[in-house]
Amino acid sequence: MTQGIFITFEGIEGCGKSTQIRILEDYLKLRGHPVLLTREPGGTTIGENIRKVLLNANFKEMSSLTELFLYAAARCQHVGEVIKPALKEDKIVLCDRFADATSAYQGTARSIDKKFLTEIHQLATDNLKPNLTILIDCPVEIGLQRALERQSEIAGQSKLDRLEKESTKFHEKVREGYLKIAHEEPQRVKVINGMDDIETVHQKVVEEVMKLIK
Ligand code: TMP
Repeated sequence: MTQGIFITFEGIEGCGKSTQIRILEDYLKLRGHPVLLTREPGGTTIGENIRKVLLNANFKEMSSLTELFLYAAARCQHVGEVIKPALKEDKIVLCDRFADATSAYQGTARSIDKKFLTEIHQLATDNLKPNLTILIDCPVEIGLQRALERQSEIAGQSKLDRLEKESTKFHEKVREGYLKIAHEEPQRVKVINGMDDIETVHQKVVEEVMKLIK
């Protein structure tokens, strides 16, 4: 019997995590595992509405703390309404971004104090930690280029969102923040090279995930 397992995917813009998480969902479902795929910010009606505010490129005036609280609010709702109940039902929860994104984006890149972030994390996540985090790593210029190409492929949505519009330097800091977390928590966070082709990355993801699934 599968136990509730919480797996998160992280990485800079355009690293390929959303593609990988979908392929993993198919892989696990085909093998009969109960899977819930969700994302942050989002995953609930409230969270998806908060997402619209957070990513709206017109809201240039948003302060770093407002940003932090909105991500935390979306997460709090998500954990209580969706993630914890699914884990209780023994599902494998695959989440596209979670608290590490706040540490990398709002912590390292926006320089919000780490101790303060830890407290916010504890409140917003109700102390829930992923069993496994897949960090798909790639150089910033490649990731941003992919994000740009992806946006221009979506009809009528040729503009980058508020976070994607940040400077290359900002995204370098985000990458640095993620790699620091992986260095500090090597048991939980597995770094996979996002420069490999989709199938190679998928095989590496499966290798890590299957270690958790009996
Ligand atoms: P996505 O594009 O992967 O769906 O993520 C939305 C954006 O929000 C992305 O630029 C990363 C950013 N983000 C944060 O800054 N902090 C967070 O806690 C989360 C979950 C996402």
